[in-house]
Amino acid sequence: MLIDGKKIAAEVKAEIAARVRQLVASGNRPPHLAAILVGHDGASETYVANKVKACHECGFRSTLIRFDSDVTQTALLDAISGLNSNPDIDGFIVQLPLPPQIDEQAIVEAIDYRKDVDGFHPINVGRLALGLPCYVSATPQGIALLLERYGIATEGKHCVVLGRSNIVGRPTAALLMQKSYPGNCTVTVCHSATEHLEQITRMADILIAAIGVPHFVKPEMVKPGAVVIDVGTTRLPSKLTHSGWKLHGDVDFDSVAPLCSAISPVPGGVGPMTIASLMLNTLLAATGEVYPKR
Ligand code: GUN
Repeated sequence: MLIDGKKIAAEVKAEIAARVRQLVASGNRPPHLAAILVGHDGASETYVANKVKACHECGFRSTLIRFDSDVTQTALLDAISGLNSNPDIDGFIVQLPLPPQIDEQAIVEAIDYRKDVDGFHPINVGRLALGLPCYVSATPQGIALLLERYGIATEGKHCVVLGRSNIVGRPTAALLMQKSYPGNCTVTVCHSATEHLEQITRMADILIAAIGVPHFVKPEMVKPGAVVIDVGTTRLPSKLTHSGWKLHGDVDFDSVAPLCSAISPVPGGVGPMTIASLMLNTLLAATGEVYPKR
């Protein structure tokens, strides 16, 4: 079975848009997401443009704040402080990565956790680890939504996460071991120092590949019948596309897919779900369902 993230993301956004119409009909203003974009990195430009487009699809307001790549830490912190105290903004994100003169962690920690719809603030990450209500970051939540919408059994299953990044591997492991559905998995996290990697990945009922090495997962690493979720998003040059590049996943799709009971492709798998998750968090920020409105 092919896990169609594009289709599920469209469904989730349509459900959000229906909620927004109800909210507005009962006298509330629409949810409002702001994004800070620094510089002109191609991938970041695309991601942010897609986020703004998704806001329109969901009936949200959106505000894009741009800075040149020579922006100072102080100027960014000032902008964040303005968004933190602006009651018209329900949530906002600072698109990463940031230029080298900026302390990325200090920027993330300056965001009011109640408006941190990316779920990157240590309070949200910590609350996720504790199983408390929080904004779950976009990629783990997108993966969980895919498992849920496809009715994939997770309870008691061995989930192997390849990669321990702060935005994917770590929070995905935390989410899938929670006492809920999707969750209740037995989770193993593999990383660059893992020994006997292939033996471990072959034990996975659910294999989540998030290492950023294109086509890393080969058939001999996968147990027949496994569910494989590919989080890779490596851009490699291509003569066949308009843009001059093509997106590659961490899974060698053509050789691995025949083995799987379900697999998510790249593109069209987890990617579109991350944007839908951000919209979901922004809706929750607007309604005060995670943290009460002040
Ligand atoms: N860069 C890559 N993914 C993300 C994301 O989900 N949020 C932000 N803010 N930056 C990113």
